[in-house]
Amino acid sequence: MTDQLVPIIDLSLASAPADIDRAAREVGFFQVINHGVEPVLVESLLDALTAFFALPAEVKESYPPPSPDVNNGYSAVGAESLAYSLGVEAPPDLFEAFNFGPDDPDFSIPQIAAERDRIFAPNIWPAEVPELRTAGVAYFEAVTAFAHRLTSLCAVGLGLEADFFEEFTRHSTDTLRCNWYSRAAGSPDPLPGQQRMGAHTDYGIITVLYADRVPGLELLDKTGTWVGVVPEPGAYLVNVGDLLAQWSNDQWVSTLHRVVPPPSKDDSKALRRSIAFFHDGDWDAMIECLPTCCSEATPPRYAPVRALDHLLNKLLGGRAMEAAESTGHIGDRIIAVRA
Ligand code: OGA
Ligand code: NI
Repeated sequence: MTDQLVPIIDLSLASAPADIDRAAREVGFFQVINHGVEPVLVESLLDALTAFFALPAEVKESYPPPSPDVNNGYSAVGAESLAYSLGVEAPPDLFEAFNFGPDDPDFSIPQIAAERDRIFAPNIWPAEVPELRTAGVAYFEAVTAFAHRLTSLCAVGLGLEADFFEEFTRHSTDTLRCNWYSRAAGSPDPLPGQQRMGAHTDYGIITVLYADRVPGLELLDKTGTWVGVVPEPGAYLVNVGDLLAQWSNDQWVSTLHRVVPPPSKDDSKALRRSIAFFHDGDWDAMIECLPTCCSEATPPRYAPVRALDHLLNKLLGGRAMEAAESTGHIGDRIIAVRA
């Protein structure tokens, strides 16, 4: 079946680093079992999110991000179009989301204090659903530890020391995006080309995704065909982001993916939920070809890039619905905020 595209990796096996290396080269996505993240943590968060997304629109809309470069708070249906992060114009996406980052950043660390109004801006918690903060923080901590375990296995898979990525992820830009895909009764069909989430690559090092076992997520395979993916029960989906692909000199791939609308003849609410943890590295990390990924025969394909420059360019492309620049620098570009 379709699931075969995305290999299942058992983290309890000694072969995990080599298995990750193979999957990251061939597919850019893998499923992880025996990951050690307690199921109750994601279940509690999903319960709290159910209460939040059921609130009236005007209540949810009272928790917007303070500016387009702050990845916190509520993002309404139609507020983003991720295809723009690739420079492609498309209708607005049909997802709503609730985003947050680390809840208690240590401002005695200069790099954290320097970003206190942006990357480490205060989380925006809804007063109506206090359990969202409790469940969100507990899940965030568990998935952060999981992401660090994964990058250590990635390092070994890439022929590096297990702690290679630690010095680039000490004050990592990490965001949890809780995606909610639903359809109100009697809502119109999607516009031509409109997706639940437009085609994009993820921007950072790795993404750790919980997804309901409901169809919708598709990956573009090496033959250029969109292939549907539903995770195995209890498995996380993990994918390589742009920064890690660039670091590996494109030996690992940051695979294009999207979420397509449900069939229009299906008249259910067609609920699909996903929770993406973006592990994006230190904002001041310089991404330069890994020593094990370049040689005289395969020289570095990219100039070094600062992680923050790449991330902001991508984030603002999807938010402002202006095509992102391919170069990673936003310069003095004025960002139009969509009402
Ligand atoms: C994302 C993403 C996929 C999904 O949030 O970047 O690709 O299944 N989500 O919702
Ligand atoms: Ni994604």
